[in-house]
Amino acid sequence: MAIDRFGRDIHYLRISLTDHCNLRCVYCMPEDMTFRPSAELMQDDELLRLVALCAELGFYKIRLTGGEPTVRLNLVELVSAIRHTPGIQSLSMTTNGVLLERLAQPLAQAGLQRVNVSLDTLNPDQFKRLTRWGKLEQVWDGILAAEAAGLTPIKINAVVVRGYNEAEVSGLARLTLEHPWQVRFIEMMPFAGATDLQLRQMVTAEEILERIRTEVGPVEVANDGELDGEARLFRLAGAQGELGFISSVTQPFCAACTRARLTADGRLRLCLLREGEVDLLTPLRAGASQAELRQLILDGIWYKPWGHGLAEGVIPLNRVMSEIGG
Ligand code: 5AD
Ligand code: SF4
Repeated sequence: MAIDRFGRDIHYLRISLTDHCNLRCVYCMPEDMTFRPSAELMQDDELLRLVALCAELGFYKIRLTGGEPTVRLNLVELVSAIRHTPGIQSLSMTTNGVLLERLAQPLAQAGLQRVNVSLDTLNPDQFKRLTRWGKLEQVWDGILAAEAAGLTPIKINAVVVRGYNEAEVSGLARLTLEHPWQVRFIEMMPFAGATDLQLRQMVTAEEILERIRTEVGPVEVANDGELDGEARLFRLAGAQGELGFISSVTQPFCAACTRARLTADGRLRLCLLREGEVDLLTPLRAGASQAELRQLILDGIWYKPWGHGLAEGVIPLNRVMSEIGG
């Protein structure tokens, strides 16, 4: 088991498969974003070696992220190999859904269990404005394909940005009336090169919840008030699905954190919002032994930071969101 110095059992690994993406969401990256050359990214064998090591150390839950994980070459083979790694019990993915219509079935067959799909608005024009390059219809078809392939329960992630989609939250919330989905609203976070948009146009979870109460109707606490991962859960009366609120900025959930992240270039990142990382890929390429790599991982986890400093205005500067994967 990998334990940090605060006694937290760290067993949930989020792996960024690539920093590349086929969209350019305004809250995530500039339109002229440049990406890392492929040689700097973990190759398949390197990635699988680190996954096996982490699994030996007690990580049993894995989420694949990006950038956009579905643009990674050999994705289906990678999913199958990760799923069959001894010790791995849970394998899910966070995706923008653009390529899901085609990939949902093969991914499910390869052993992927669930997907979270990013969808910030149901208005095609706003969707285009927010993602710059996206077509809403593709994502919608992707969500339906994921559901048909059994990648359930489907979770929808919506980052709320003032001036873009704060008026759309009720429409998204209403999806839960008809669909057994969890629609989650996420407070926008600032990253390296934090834009005016990230700093000034964040909408709090409280405000989103209030808007849904006013425009749609009363909500009741779901899941006995327990956090589901990082989300506080509610339900609209008579709804099939649930509403989730991820208040990373206004109400951090660091005390209950069980996560570490592996960046696409093979660094173990101990907190999404802190800069500290342990380079695993360079020693791996230099011929480090299993025992040496294991020690690097365990030491990194031991010194995992207590929590983030957004409330004190501390913003991580060494990476943008698309390199860490949320
Ligand atoms: N703040 C919060 N969430 C973000 N995401 C991307 N950029 C930000 C940001 N600045 C989310 C996406 C996606 C996940 C990968 O990260 O919506 O769901
Ligand atoms: Fe791509 Fe996701 Fe970033 Fe949007 S939020 S640009 S889909 S990585």
